[in-house]
Amino acid sequence: MKKIPIPMSLQKKTLCDSSQYEALYKQSVDDPEGFWNEQAEQLAWFKKWDRTFHFDFHKAEVKWFTGGKINVCYNCLDRHIESKGDKTAIIWEDDSGKLTKKYSYKEVLIEVSKIANILKRNGLKKGDRVAIYMGMIPELAFATLACARIGVVHSIIFGGFSYEAINTRVKDSDCKMVITASHSKRAGKTINLKAIVDKGLEGIDFIEKVLVVKHGENVPMQKGRDVWLHEELELVGVECEAELLDSEDPLFILYTSGSTGKPKGVVHTQAGYILYTSLTHKYVFDLREDDIYFCAADLGWITGHSYIIYGPLANGTTTVMFESTPTYPHAGRYWEMVEKYKITSLYTAPTAIRALLKEGDEHVKKFDRSSLRILGTVGEPINYDAWMWYYQVVGNENCAIVDTWWQTETGGVMIAPLPGAIEAKPGSAAKPFFGIQPCLVDAEGRELAGDSEVTGNLCIKHSWPSQMRTVYGDHERFKETYFTKFPGMFYTGDGAKRDADGYYWIIGRNDDVLNVAGHRLGTSEVESSVIKSAKVVECAVVGKAHEVKGESIFVFAILRPNLSESHEEIKQHIRRHVKDTLSPIAMPDGILFVSDLPKTRSGKIMRRILRKIAGGEQKDFGDITTLADPAVA
Ligand code: WT7
Repeated sequence: MKKIPIPMSLQKKTLCDSSQYEALYKQSVDDPEGFWNEQAEQLAWFKKWDRTFHFDFHKAEVKWFTGGKINVCYNCLDRHIESKGDKTAIIWEDDSGKLTKKYSYKEVLIEVSKIANILKRNGLKKGDRVAIYMGMIPELAFATLACARIGVVHSIIFGGFSYEAINTRVKDSDCKMVITASHSKRAGKTINLKAIVDKGLEGIDFIEKVLVVKHGENVPMQKGRDVWLHEELELVGVECEAELLDSEDPLFILYTSGSTGKPKGVVHTQAGYILYTSLTHKYVFDLREDDIYFCAADLGWITGHSYIIYGPLANGTTTVMFESTPTYPHAGRYWEMVEKYKITSLYTAPTAIRALLKEGDEHVKKFDRSSLRILGTVGEPINYDAWMWYYQVVGNENCAIVDTWWQTETGGVMIAPLPGAIEAKPGSAAKPFFGIQPCLVDAEGRELAGDSEVTGNLCIKHSWPSQMRTVYGDHERFKETYFTKFPGMFYTGDGAKRDADGYYWIIGRNDDVLNVAGHRLGTSEVESSVIKSAKVVECAVVGKAHEVKGESIFVFAILRPNLSESHEEIKQHIRRHVKDTLSPIAMPDGILFVSDLPKTRSGKIMRRILRKIAGGEQKDFGDITTLADPAVA
């Protein structure tokens, strides 16, 4: 694959060129302690750290900057006030596109401090957990930072999840409070979030307060438990001191899907996380002081945490928060915003790029995109056509395309072609970021070294500051999932190829995790939701290639006997059940009723075969000699 030369407009103008990248990377690997000590000086510390890192992957132990005292919110806001208090920190655009709100660093600090005071007033203390469930409104960012300010651990639940997802997450981390909004608005639709929260909290008695942002009509409030944010705001002051926290105190929990039905509460901590997200944000987006940076993700995912709020604000950037979708009310929405706010850097997902590509170039060309410099992508492999369209049509061949590979678990970008430093190859995330030591291993855990092209399991050999520290409440699961299969390394769950130039090409998950439109879903999570629809006795979920979504959900199900409805009615029922209880994003595209499922002798469902059937390759079922009952296939 040919490399795409660095656009002329960026040459010699980026933070880092290829020789600087090589030199810094070499230093970061040869002398990680020296490298990270130097980088950590960029943060504001209340007390410097004693030890840079200590980790033992055999014991699943990871610690960075121990002995240090720090506050992430202080790093995102307070320390910028003197030099850029009036600079816009957040530009928010609402669903309709008719309303824009801008908040300066000073204003964000006030909003955040007020909410932090509300949390304190309602009995929250350092270390308590709070679930946050709302759409993309400024209060979501404020509430998140307010938690960080006082050492309360936030657990943001994506606003597109349904009540069962709230219920399991709130229970798993024993939250004391839920912060939500009356409604969320997306693509002209209004969703009554508060009603979903009420349902999600049924049977839970340990939630002390539900703090509600009014975003739309009034909603019923439960006496003694529910409080309106706007009423509470009247009662608190505008100042709230940032709590002195240990480097390794937890900052947040973010649930992500794994290969069992129960999502994992990924725990990130203070200093390492904010250092790594701010440093990657700076280099991956080749940050300049007057950049207007727009990450189109939702704050409910790690991309939103790291690259809408924490990384950008720690760097004193102007970050754009967007309530709507790329195609509402028209397919030129992103480019209209680029023109309106003179956006310099855009970060989105391949699924959005593919959806927009399909709508035609005229929606893009209508708007002035000359402010754009960096175009990022994340979440799934980007196919050649989508990459080229992003580069040629959106970027006019003037922008760097940065395909960033990382995970909820990694906290920040791990592999990416740094603008101006690494020539891109469409479809490749290219080279590791400073301090990241990726490697490929075979099924036995032997490292595949050398300069020739190799394909294997993607692992990371050395810890990095924003590595997840544990699975909330289940350190054994952390160890088992990431450090057991290939001892001494962190296993990402992805398969990848490294070419002769040392570029990494991510192939996709090696485990039972699906990637639907950039959203991570576990097959067993969807399976248990399908089972709970009460129409089937057993089922298996696999991914099926999809033009826009990358992968779509395909269900093989064994029906319960003696159902009176038609197959079509049952399919509708299952779809609706998954949508209402888990999430609309988990709704199956295809459902096939079967009399049996192909299994190995040990009882494991042979997904490889099912994937082929779902993909329409019925004739080649691969090796089915280990099947218990080959006739099923
Ligand atoms: C999985 C992680 C990182 C924020 C969004 C997703 C896939 C992610 C890429 C990329 C190919 C990618 C991997 C990874 N993935 N980025 N640039 N190229 N695949 O976070 O929900 O934790 O999912 O997304 O399979 O393991 P996540």
